[in-house]
Amino acid sequence: MNAPEQPKIQFVDLKAQYAALKASIDARIQAVLDHGQFIMGPEVGELEERLASRAGVKHCVTVASGTEALLIALMALGVKPGDEVITTPFSFVATAEVIVLLGAKPVFVDVQPTTCNIDVALIEPAITARTRAIMPVSLYGQASDMDEINAIADRHGLAVIEDAAQSFGAEYKGRQSCNLSTIGCTSFFPSKPLGCYGDGGAIFTGDDDLARAMKEIRVHGQSKRYVHTRIGVGGRMDTLQCAVVLAKLERFEWEVTQRAKIGRRYAQQLASLAPAVRTLTLPEDRTSVHAQYTVLAADRARLERGLKERGIPTAVHYPVPIHRQPAYRHLEACELPVSERLAEQVISLPMHPDMDEGTQDGIVAAVARAVA
Ligand SMILES: Cc1ncc(COP(=O)(O)O)c(C=O)c1O
Repeated sequence: MNAPEQPKIQFVDLKAQYAALKASIDARIQAVLDHGQFIMGPEVGELEERLASRAGVKHCVTVASGTEALLIALMALGVKPGDEVITTPFSFVATAEVIVLLGAKPVFVDVQPTTCNIDVALIEPAITARTRAIMPVSLYGQASDMDEINAIADRHGLAVIEDAAQSFGAEYKGRQSCNLSTIGCTSFFPSKPLGCYGDGGAIFTGDDDLARAMKEIRVHGQSKRYVHTRIGVGGRMDTLQCAVVLAKLERFEWEVTQRAKIGRRYAQQLASLAPAVRTLTLPEDRTSVHAQYTVLAADRARLERGLKERGIPTAVHYPVPIHRQPAYRHLEACELPVSERLAEQVISLPMHPDMDEGTQDGIVAAVARAVA
């Protein structure tokens, strides 16, 4: 007789999450089907209130995706052709894409090798008369050095947009990600720490004027029905997706705790594998929601191969820094050696709140064997 098949290890386990929340998710979706207000239905405002209150920010504006959140945030700030926005090249491409879409220029500064987040010491020398904003990314689920970034921005009269696509639920000095700067933008892409079942996103700000501008921009710049007072986009989040996020909020606090716990266990258990595998630093003044659990491998190809042979899925976030992408090479990007080195070393291990300790121990043992 064949041995019973081992359950497949999931990189992100959305099926387990759905099984745990099935009754609430189904009921929430059914309620939308019943009332039929698929665009700007009551769940949209309900979610915005819940998220604003959880993040501790006055305004939350839901939008069609994390990318749209960043784009609308820049539009609300009035970023225009010729302006510059300082950001990191070590991110998902959307971070720079929205800047370029507005005719502005992303000015890339390098990242810290220990966190993969923007290196604050390099920001001020990159500021010019054209700089309008700084856009740090809370990569893999933990915030950058936001106090220092805000202080630089204050000195130069700049706005700060936190690209918090991967970090909703994380804390920085007791404050929530998305409540750390002028504007915070998150994503509800299905595999994000708080995800929906399609595309979705949200923008957070304490500024009344910016919030009004964002609400207008997401509906084609409309201030009243068919009165278009500014240039906008079709950027609303569907009622159905808001309903899914509302249902997922029921278990979100538990999930945030689980993610932190699993992240701590990975860090402890992988520590002895250095320098073949090195974990990233999580400073004591912040928490991470570990959208990805990413480590640095001295020989990534070998680790990838070894884990694949043992049935363990991995991913690379991100194999090429943005300034090396074909569409961005013309941006006269300078030397960004840390990002380039990290792009060759980063590898993400399975991470989701439903991972049990036995599965995690098996993954760690497989990592150890793969690099032995
Ligand atoms: C850092 C970062 N910024 C922006 C985005 C864009 O979000 P979305 O996929 O919801 O458009 C993502 C999502 O992948 C991301 O990881």
